[in-house]
Amino acid sequence: MLVVGNWKMNLDLAAARQLSSALVSSLGRQDHVEVGICPPFVALDAVYSVLHGSGIRLGAQNMHEADNGAFTGEVSAPMLRAVGCHYVILGHSERRQFFVETDAGVSRKAVQARAHRLVPIVCVGESLPEREAEQHETVVQRQLRESLENVELNHASELVVAYEPVWAIGTGRTASPEQVEAMHGHIRRQLEHRFGRTIGAGIAILYGGSVKPDNAADLFDRPDVDGGLIGGASLKADDFLSIVQAARR
Ligand code: PGA
Repeated sequence: MLVVGNWKMNLDLAAARQLSSALVSSLGRQDHVEVGICPPFVALDAVYSVLHGSGIRLGAQNMHEADNGAFTGEVSAPMLRAVGCHYVILGHSERRQFFVETDAGVSRKAVQARAHRLVPIVCVGESLPEREAEQHETVVQRQLRESLENVELNHASELVVAYEPVWAIGTGRTASPEQVEAMHGHIRRQLEHRFGRTIGAGIAILYGGSVKPDNAADLFDRPDVDGGLIGGASLKADDFLSIVQAARR
């Protein structure tokens, strides 16, 4: 199981240090649960100093597809590696919605992340109109195909996929465990088709969208749910720790 906190554009440097310290002192090394946190870029270095040696892994929320160059405001994969990142979230729905990211762009970033030994957490998920039109499986299938184009894997641990229905993110409205199970099974079949049975079966598929301490266990119990990508609830140590606890059961 894998539980990753996506802090989004929250917490200043002092608060980032405080929250990561609280997690380190409570979590120590997890047996069956891997834990990652993704602070804003400006806090990565400071949070890495806190996490170092703890077993909690660091991730970024986005990156540029080039190594370096004239791309004002952007951050590259080598820069993320240099500050200790293991993961990078790519194609989050907020990036797709507010920053016009496309599947083709996500695929170029995922290839670049792999080239620099970062583990991409590639996000997919349908909007509410797409769900209501019963297009969710088609939409997610297309996102997976196009966002993972040219991505080569030697091992399942080199990629994470997060299913995040857009209508469940930050809305307090969670997909039902049945909806999550059905979609994760669908994603698993696509991954097995794309990367072969052995690798496809081992890729972690996270659910994200209003995961809270009181619904985490029901979601994590379902087949093909290998953990969660946690937004709002990752900003409070107690809530995030309860969610990690739910994954441990
Ligand atoms: P949420 O966000 O848990 O606040 O719904 C999840 C995400 O966007 O990764």
